[in-house]
Amino acid sequence: MMKRILITGASRGIGRAIAQKLAAPDVTLLLHGRDTVALAETCKLIRSNCANVVKLIHDLATEKGVMDLISQVGSEPLNVLVNNAGIAVVKPFREITLEEWNQTVGVNVTAPFLLMQSFAGQMPPGSSIVNILSVAAKTAFPNWSAYCMSKFALEGLSQSIRHELREHCIRVINIYPAATNTEIWDDVTGDWPREKMISAEQVGDTVAYALSRPADVAIENITLSNAAGNL
Ligand SMILES: NC(=O)c1ccc[n+]([C@@H]2O[C@H](COP(=O)([O-])OP(=O)(O)OC[C@H]3O[C@@H](n4cnc5c(N)ncnc54)[C@H](OP(=O)(O)O)[C@@H]3O)[C@@H](O)[C@H]2O)c1
Repeated sequence: MMKRILITGASRGIGRAIAQKLAAPDVTLLLHGRDTVALAETCKLIRSNCANVVKLIHDLATEKGVMDLISQVGSEPLNVLVNNAGIAVVKPFREITLEEWNQTVGVNVTAPFLLMQSFAGQMPPGSSIVNILSVAAKTAFPNWSAYCMSKFALEGLSQSIRHELREHCIRVINIYPAATNTEIWDDVTGDWPREKMISAEQVGDTVAYALSRPADVAIENITLSNAAGNL
């Protein structure tokens, strides 16, 4: 049977890698991003493996953007929802502007909340919600206060929702990557050696593995570390 999979933030990085791993002849991939050029590149990489690809261009920092995404996805049920889009504002907490704070909450917390709320009701038993959290959902780091706030929030949200969705046999799979070599680090000031990071492909592979388990088995929480030690 044809499966419908929505991935947010699929235009680059971890989201793109997840799209590449989940592309299959029996899958319709609904791929979200804002950057049309980068999203088109993701589509190009997977098109030959995938039954159908739909591009969704919306800003998830705003409620309107999220609502437009939801209406474009439509009422046909999803089998997998991957909440991956995320931003990292990294600076001393006294320098964080209210706009940066609101953007972080919007993209990293409110968007996943609204997407899970709108789609879970239609998802058939055996479906899955994948949330890309971070080691920063469990551990605090100086200058990462807004980011840690958002990931700790998503952690509580998704764990509670996991319990609510058990009676519908919908799995909530939480992924906690350590530093991963993507463009998210381009704007972070400081020295962040890329060779100490894990690859986006490894995160994509892990998501694909968790999803490939039989529907009655939930791999609920996966932390991915660099075997030689994280940053
Ligand atoms: N890289 C790491 O070290 C790491 C570690 C742990 C967890 N994570 C998490 O993994 C997820 C993906 O991160 P990444 O490293 O792949 O980052 P990335 O390369 O910067 O990609 C971020 C993605 O999120 C989308 N996005 C950002 N702001 C958005 C907005 N306002 N509206 C809609 N989409 C937006 C981007 O879309 P456009 O570019 O098209 O706007 C892009 O597709 C995030 O949730 C991040 O917190 C990353």
